[in-house]
Amino acid sequence: MRLHVADHPLVAHKLTVLRNKETASPTFRLLVDELVTLLAYEATREVATEPHTISTPVAETIGTRIADPRPLVVPILRAGLGMLDGMTRLLPTAEVGFLGMQRNEETLEAVTYANRLPDDLTGRQCFLVDPMLATGGTLVAAIDFLLKRGARDVTVVCLLAAPEGLEVLEKAVGDRGDVKVVVAAVDERLDENAYIIPGLGDAGDRLYGVVD
Ligand code: URA
Repeated sequence: MRLHVADHPLVAHKLTVLRNKETASPTFRLLVDELVTLLAYEATREVATEPHTISTPVAETIGTRIADPRPLVVPILRAGLGMLDGMTRLLPTAEVGFLGMQRNEETLEAVTYANRLPDDLTGRQCFLVDPMLATGGTLVAAIDFLLKRGARDVTVVCLLAAPEGLEVLEKAVGDRGDVKVVVAAVDERLDENAYIIPGLGDAGDRLYGVVD
């Protein structure tokens, strides 16, 4: 597994505003969108391309285009939805699949409650988006899901990661597949409720409000 932390002053500035508890949902959503666009630039560095011949007004030239099969962007419901537009803005030809995952409070294992993905992902480059890599349980299950269906590689795009979650991911994924994690920052630790410290709170609630 490879880790890339986006080290850029714009990312650091926007992340600080995002973390601030005084930042209200409309601004929070806007900042997530902007941050994801910056992260998507890094995350797509190895997207598969092929030569493409075109004519400019003055000459023929061989350029580049994104190759088939098209990349697949997979937001993990619900908070991952807040990152979808930022990803597809840079990858407008990507297909979008959905994964709904929830922790079973008894077994503490991630359970898939919704899945809208092709059964066969052979050769597909997949971009999993979820704002918070906390314990890593959900992302391990999601990566497993994609690799078992034949994904060529998986790039996980998160706003924040906890060192504990990265370690869990590293152990679970090992060299089973080509997995890359792109984050805006790696925070200090998890608290006793598995919240990232200092973090930004509950990403889903801050994006969409608290739903009882
Ligand atoms: N999920 C969140 O939304 N926030 C955290 O800090 C951890 C998991």
